[in-house]
Amino acid sequence: MSTSEKGTDPSPELPYSHRESLKLLETMRKAMLAGGGEDRQARQKAKGKHTARERIRLLTDEGSFVENHPYELSRIDDFGMDSKKISGDGVITGSALLEGRQIWLSSQDFTVLGGSLGEQHASKIAATQRLALKTGKPFIQINDSGGARIQEGVMSLEGYGSIFRENILASGVIPQISLIMGPCAGGAAYSPALTDFVFMIDKTSHMYITGPEVIKAVTGEEVSHEDLGGALAHASKSGNVHFHCASEEECFRLVKRLLSYLPSSNREAPPRLECTDDPNRETGEILRIIPGESTRAYDVREIIALLFDGESFLEVHRDFARSMVVGFARLAGRSVGIIGNQPMVFAGALDRDSSDKAARFVRFCDAFSIPVISLVDVPGYMPGTEQEYGGIIRHGAKLLYAIAEATVPKIALVLRKAYGGAYIGMASRALGYDRVLTLPIAEIAVMGASGAANIIFRNEIQSAKDHDLIKEIKMHEYQRKFMNPFSSASLGIVDDVISPESARKELIRSLEIIADKREDRPSKKHGNMPL
Ligand code: HXC
Repeated sequence: MSTSEKGTDPSPELPYSHRESLKLLETMRKAMLAGGGEDRQARQKAKGKHTARERIRLLTDEGSFVENHPYELSRIDDFGMDSKKISGDGVITGSALLEGRQIWLSSQDFTVLGGSLGEQHASKIAATQRLALKTGKPFIQINDSGGARIQEGVMSLEGYGSIFRENILASGVIPQISLIMGPCAGGAAYSPALTDFVFMIDKTSHMYITGPEVIKAVTGEEVSHEDLGGALAHASKSGNVHFHCASEEECFRLVKRLLSYLPSSNREAPPRLECTDDPNRETGEILRIIPGESTRAYDVREIIALLFDGESFLEVHRDFARSMVVGFARLAGRSVGIIGNQPMVFAGALDRDSSDKAARFVRFCDAFSIPVISLVDVPGYMPGTEQEYGGIIRHGAKLLYAIAEATVPKIALVLRKAYGGAYIGMASRALGYDRVLTLPIAEIAVMGASGAANIIFRNEIQSAKDHDLIKEIKMHEYQRKFMNPFSSASLGIVDDVISPESARKELIRSLEIIADKREDRPSKKHGNMPL
């Protein structure tokens, strides 16, 4: 217990007014640190959640946190608010170091009015966002809130408006990351949706526009909080969440890992690490992973593990739109973004969600100078009414737009199939890939051999005695003529056909020779991406 707590004056030599000011400071600090009080903090912990201040301590480097506006209070006196005002107004904001690099953050305190967002609460978050933008450092928000503070009425909504606006202005300038660690309901969910990466915690976090009770009242549908807005539901079904974590601790570890690939802002180059994995390491194993029959599946993540620096792959959006794999990795120490078709899911076909997933990832990489590597094994866009009526044309166009718009180095490696419109998005020089490599087993064509033979040799097949035999012969003819990579290389649309052993080395060399590329785009206010 300190001397002042015992009632002894610690600095009797100071003038009385100075001593009174110091006492006030101590009282205010205690009140500010107490948040909503011990009972509510105990309730928070009983739910398996950390308090707002503990979260900052766990996420950031020890002793590095500098707090902003800790004494700000709500200005509302109606509806019993006069007795509910607590220093800081339910959100802790400031700057800290994370693995030695500066970040800005906000952490909502559920023990204060349920972390609800009123005017001052919002103004503290928006001020932090502005400073993050001005200083060019990442912004991380930890959300744990009952939403708009009902007592503050429309000023709460205005508050959300200001936060959304700051999210939008900072988009593409600084990385923005949202950690949902409790409720995040109604319009509150739109701030995370405007940020680059969203994390959720299994069981303790829920995010939705309208909760189960409202849904039941309006539509009669019954659904649990977890099935509607839990971490897994968003990570696998809606795609609103990029990482779902078993615990808050796991989430903090993943955030640190994610930031290790990213620059602090678009003014900087991404961090480059020393490479401990041999750049000349042979990768002939690739042909043992990819099956000989072009219809048989394999896991593209095995190829990624083989080609990129040892254990450097961080998969993003792992459980959503799984026919496309995206994530960060390192190639000879450089950060790269990977988009790769996943033959294990729908044969790697591009559908609406996988096109959205890849397009958004490519745009993030482009905004932050992270080169894009495309690993191609794609039979085409997904056929069917479900996809057509759902807008596969509009969604598929997003990937084309994102690739052509991106000015970062873009390299494609065709592993096996590259057919049709999907070839264009994943590997086309004409669309903007700077360097297109293929393995010798690659097949680049408008469509697969069977479909092509049925169309261009239809008459011969139909008039033959043995349809199947003739079709087989014609398919081989088509394959030999059009589908081998040397046919594409002879037309200048493939830069090189590389040996499987040297695939890693060739990717590294390709990246080195185009790392310094600069490209301009026509001047415009902004393009009109298909949304
Ligand atoms: C004011 C709130 C509040 C809110 C919770 N509290 N939400 N105070 N405004 N929005 C207060 C409670 O009164 C309580 O105060 C304390 O926070 C803890 O809440 P509990 O209900 O005891 O906690 P729990 O049982 O864990 O339930 C959490 C909850 C529930 C599911 C979030 O509180 C809830 O449903 N709240 C209302 C959610 C809501 O409808 N928000 C408005 C959404 S509309 P005491 O003093 O008892 O501790 C919206 C529009 C935004 O957000 C649009 C932006 C564009």
